[in-house]
Amino acid sequence: MKRLVDVDPEIAKVIRLETERQGSKLELIASENFVSEAVLEAMGSPLTNKYAEGYPGKRYYGGCEFVDMAETLAIERAKQLFGADHVNVQPHSGAQANMAAYFSVLEHGDTILGLNLAHGGHLTHGSPVNFSGRFFKVIPYSVDQKSEQIDMAEVRRLAKEHRPKLIVTGGSAYPRTLHFDKFKEIADEIGCLLMADIAHPAGIIAAGLHPSPVPCCDLVTTTTHKTLRGPRGGMIMCKAALAAAVNKNIFPGMQGGPLMHVIAAKAVAFKEALAPEFRVYQKQILANATALAEAMIAQGFRLVSGGTDTHVMLVDVAVKGLTGKVAEAVLDKAGLTVNKNAIPFDTKSPMVTSGIRLGTPALTTRGMREAEMRTVAALIAEVLADVEDAGRQARVAGKVRELCAAFPLYPERLAV
Ligand SMILES: Cc1ncc(COP(=O)(O)O)c(C=O)c1O
Repeated sequence: MKRLVDVDPEIAKVIRLETERQGSKLELIASENFVSEAVLEAMGSPLTNKYAEGYPGKRYYGGCEFVDMAETLAIERAKQLFGADHVNVQPHSGAQANMAAYFSVLEHGDTILGLNLAHGGHLTHGSPVNFSGRFFKVIPYSVDQKSEQIDMAEVRRLAKEHRPKLIVTGGSAYPRTLHFDKFKEIADEIGCLLMADIAHPAGIIAAGLHPSPVPCCDLVTTTTHKTLRGPRGGMIMCKAALAAAVNKNIFPGMQGGPLMHVIAAKAVAFKEALAPEFRVYQKQILANATALAEAMIAQGFRLVSGGTDTHVMLVDVAVKGLTGKVAEAVLDKAGLTVNKNAIPFDTKSPMVTSGIRLGTPALTTRGMREAEMRTVAALIAEVLADVEDAGRQARVAGKVRELCAAFPLYPERLAV
């Protein structure tokens, strides 16, 4: 068969340019990572051709004997990785995993408690612009104004007052440990269900370096592409009692045919995560995050909650007279990729913000360690010291390229 470059040189060029961009810039977006060649190979395989509505052994299509093996391997490995009773590996994304998890236990109009998006929560935890905010009555909980950590007293107070059917924990920009056991106490006190969305810390949890929600939560959802370093996708874990409801709500409830090539790639990523080196990798993500946080503070920035326990941190750039929007744009020109992010009690709009979010999973995958994190903080500080200085941005971009060249990414793809 003809190669992509012969069939569609325009798309081949886009892929090459994007691969070069990933390799020649410093990727600090906390929700991104670089998958292995093995994961890429599984994703780009003929398994994409197969329709397999249903579940292993119970499909609505013939010819599923081999994709059944892939899905069973993914399920068994995920169970082993997280110690879950039941796993569904079919969600196409984290948002769809959350939708199916909600639909498994909630009716339209039911009340849920979720972390305020402006305080580090996720859109799917009850934002009014998301299905979750439109379908359910949402009571948002916040972080404490002083500690900037989840205010468990407020969670308890709101839970007692509003009697939700489900409490949702987890978020997209919450840098601190999630205390699932404390949420469980509150859920038990009012007799409601508990769900954890571990999209961000999933890899750290799988490595045993962050408390696991699996023993105490009724439902646990995740993406597979962040710290877990797998293909883009979602997953739901649950207690045995909810297994049938979860499966039914993914298919036929919300999705049609599962993405079998992605499920095979999930299985590969889970195998990688079960290997001892994965724990070493996760430990280094955390060590790098601590080093980056300390170095940013030493450079005069304020970190929301004073630091991080995880792979992610929120940097208050307003203390330097900047907005997140400006910081994101100038850092990008200098080869440092970050995203603007609201900080708790932000006075600026979500399109402007007072903060940027930084994360260490992607740079750690490239082999960078604490010394490089200190260099990264110094480069960020250099650019943000004068955001009007284009010469400075160009100089830093040169230093970024040098640093990146020492930690090559996908070199065999760029060699051809
Ligand atoms: C906590 C959390 N849940 C769900 C999602 C949604 O995942 P996806 O983008 O795959 O739909 C994200 C994505 O960033 C997330 O951070």
